[in-house]
Amino acid sequence: MSDRYAVFGNPVSHSKSPAIHAAFAAACNQDLAYEAILVPLHGFAGSVRAFVAGGGCGANVTLPFKQEACRLATRLTPRAGLAGAVNTLFFDGPAWLGDNTDGAGLLRDLTQNLGCPIVGMRVLLLGAGGAARGVLGPLLEAGPRRLVIANRTEASAHELAARMPGAGAVSACSYPQLAGQSFDLLINATSASLAGASLPLPDGLFARDSLAYDMMYGADETPFLRLAGSRGAARLADGLGMLVEQAAEAFQLWRGVRPATAPVLAMLRAGSRQTGSQ
Ligand code: ATR
Repeated sequence: MSDRYAVFGNPVSHSKSPAIHAAFAAACNQDLAYEAILVPLHGFAGSVRAFVAGGGCGANVTLPFKQEACRLATRLTPRAGLAGAVNTLFFDGPAWLGDNTDGAGLLRDLTQNLGCPIVGMRVLLLGAGGAARGVLGPLLEAGPRRLVIANRTEASAHELAARMPGAGAVSACSYPQLAGQSFDLLINATSASLAGASLPLPDGLFARDSLAYDMMYGADETPFLRLAGSRGAARLADGLGMLVEQAAEAFQLWRGVRPATAPVLAMLRAGSRQTGSQ
């Protein structure tokens, strides 16, 4: 029987993870099966236990279970501990290792795929929920000149900044307080795009050579990327590359092999153009 992996979420039917991991497995000659499991909102722990009892070797975790997965793991990688969220579980007998590959996935997409060095750059992180928390530590480690967290609820931005002790480059504010500043890299980690909503950002934020990055993705340009394009951002990128890169990190943890990501990203881009779906 093939080794079993799965992504747990609710909803989960839209997930591209089964297609991504099937492509990685084929390219790396790995015998594994990867499925999407729809979990009842109050049934996460039970679903994971049943999966492990049935021979499950590892899992990805998506919304809304990443924080619960953090509590369920018996051991956390430092980056998962810092994020307070787990998107990857590795089952080794009674030991359940919880990791968070989102930040590494974003960093790899930015630095390797998009050629954005981050070091020395002025970075704006929009949002202070789970998505922002998952990527903040790795972003700071990449050495930006400054990193500002801005959020609709200003207090949450300050709370998030305070989780990074000793990180002098980080500060927090509301959207109106961004007036008069400009940034080289602007990352949308809010869920506003999911609801089709635009963020109330002041003019002048996008420096002339800036890259606007939306951690969300879809068949159509997100409201944030539309806004960025109209305000003069030089480059726009959605989160599909991050999705593939975080999957590659998980695959490496489970299988000890690093898959090539470019062919899989190209396959997904071609697929979403053909079908017009996410
Ligand atoms: P998650 O943990 O999945 O990231 P969350 O904790 O609800 O979800 O965080 C969602 C983020 O998107 C928050 O930063 C939220 O801002 P608030 O903290 O003010 O709620 C932000 N967000 C969601 N919808 C938004 C909108 N329409 N405009 C601005 N920010 C929005």
